[in-house]
Amino acid sequence: MSTLIPTSRVPRSMELYQRALELIPGGTQLVSRRPTRVAYGVSPIYAARAKGARFWDVDGHEYIDWASGIAAIILGYADDVVDNAVKEQISKGNNFSINHELEVELAEELVNLIPCAEMVRYAKGGGEACGIAVRIARGATGRDRVLFCGYHGWQDWYLAANLDAAGALNQHLFPGIEPIGVPKALHETAVPFPYGDLNALGELLDNYKGTVAAIIMEPCRTEHPPAGYLQGVRKLATEHDVVLIFDEVSTGFRHGVDGVQTVLGVTPDLAVFAKSISNGYPMGCVVGKRDVMEAASQMFISSTYWSDTIGMRAALTTLREIRRRNVPQQLWQFGERLQKEINQVAVATGAPVECYGVAVHPSLRFSPSDPADQQKISTLYVQEMAKRGCHGYPSFYLNAAQGEPELQQTVNAAQEVFPILRETMENGDWDTKLECELRTDAFQRLVK
Ligand SMILES: Cc1ncc(COP(=O)(O)O)c(C=O)c1O
Repeated sequence: MSTLIPTSRVPRSMELYQRALELIPGGTQLVSRRPTRVAYGVSPIYAARAKGARFWDVDGHEYIDWASGIAAIILGYADDVVDNAVKEQISKGNNFSINHELEVELAEELVNLIPCAEMVRYAKGGGEACGIAVRIARGATGRDRVLFCGYHGWQDWYLAANLDAAGALNQHLFPGIEPIGVPKALHETAVPFPYGDLNALGELLDNYKGTVAAIIMEPCRTEHPPAGYLQGVRKLATEHDVVLIFDEVSTGFRHGVDGVQTVLGVTPDLAVFAKSISNGYPMGCVVGKRDVMEAASQMFISSTYWSDTIGMRAALTTLREIRRRNVPQQLWQFGERLQKEINQVAVATGAPVECYGVAVHPSLRFSPSDPADQQKISTLYVQEMAKRGCHGYPSFYLNAAQGEPELQQTVNAAQEVFPILRETMENGDWDTKLECELRTDAFQRLVK
């Protein structure tokens, strides 16, 4: 296996990354953008520009982006309607000494749109917005403890879960996250619960009776919840007088124009949105019921850039465009076709691959004859698809700019790549086929 820069197919990316490692601790700002999460030395690391469903890297290669800006792009890159609205806004100024009426207009839009929304606060990102939601829940209840299920960003309140010697986040994210820098005094303030298991959640609520402020969870991820599960969570939260928060940073606006709440038929007390709310511009929000949200008026939750008009204009325009273009319906239909066609290639080529999960966020499951080859086969898949202009992980974040050309190119690539996977698995010659180190673990979330 070779990762040497001179032999890399992305030499400019590799050179930039070496410089970054000298200057930027960890190399990237987002763990999911670490090049070791894809095919290091083969996959692109630095983008130069993007339009629609595609981006171009600094080495001049063109890719379909099946990660959709790590879920932030829902309409497509550089969407003309959103970008023109933002440009017009910039020409009028983006951040003022006083407030801007967009704050009110966007709040009204969100309240009209999202079932649980009666009041609104803004942020610039998902992890930040989750932090605000947890603060509001703690402030509203006067309690400290948070039960969580899923990924909710990087903040102290969340990583505190790993102050537990057992490493509570091992299954939630990936093993080995040290809660370095997180105050030890937060021990046992954030406790994970397993998705789909109402008894386990009920037991935690009983054990920690009277001390739990909030249940925060991703309502779903790759699959819809078992029938009645979220209704059961809702019931438990109400019985224990605990604030129920849905983290919709990843689900938001792909499942339905108003998020996932109507689709799943459960209304939380608070919900958090970011990423796709603004088609790639920095924006996040916490929305929720008045009796909980109102507590925020007495709390110190404040930042200069939360009123920046670029994010708000982008969000308002994106939300309206999602509705006008009926994006969720388009993504459901497109995802179903993608799943079907990939599975047909898998069957035809005899490759141990299955495309599964909700159609708006399909995932790939590899079943190599030796389960120990799991990481090898997923790395080989990412590597070979990258060479054929398909960037991503073994999963697909859809956006509305993806269409027939992207589907065909990807299916054609799979027709070439899947036999390579099968033959390599049969021959066991991973070392000759893999041109990079094995990918590091993907996020393993308990939320399906
Ligand atoms: C469900 C969920 N919550 C929170 C976050 C964190 O959002 P951000 O990266 O914008 O801070 C993410 C990011 O992937 C997410 O998927």
